[in-house]
Amino acid sequence: MSSLYERLGGTDGITTIASDIVDFHQKNPRIAPRYADSDVAAVKNAVATFFISGSGGPDVYEGKDMLSAHRGMNIDAAEFVAAIDDVMAALDKNGIGQREKEETLFILYSLKGEVLHV
Ligand code: HEM
Repeated sequence: MSSLYERLGGTDGITTIASDIVDFHQKNPRIAPRYADSDVAAVKNAVATFFISGSGGPDVYEGKDMLSAHRGMNIDAAEFVAAIDDVMAALDKNGIGQREKEETLFILYSLKGEVLHV
């Protein structure tokens, strides 16, 4: 089977998905305040490149590791679920299938220990 990267639409598809994810975060009352002072274009680029590299695409991510990126934020479980809900909604919006949603969900869940209460 082709890589998750290819099945998410490659760099172009993932760039659109990442933009939608950040748009959804900014409209999601549970987590929007976290992004109040963010450079939206920079966050979209970080999320896109993280997904590209983490799904089997080219090694383009130059951002922080997940522990360093979220250290000190004390993110709670409800925020973690809310953020993942936005990712699933963005995959739906872009016509991504259940198999790919399951694989993405598994990857995100596996990062819980580097994001939650760190
Ligand atoms: C598995 C889940 C998550 C992943 C994969 C993830 C991924 C990322 C990535 C790639 C960055 C950019 C790091 C950099 O700039 O070098 C980032 C930053 C950030 N994340 Fe997460 N994140 C996750 C969960 C969360 C949650 C639950 C929250 C809380 C609502 C959150 C809030 C933030 C904030 C506020 C930033 C900084 C944005 C900025 O630079 O302005 N993240 N995250």
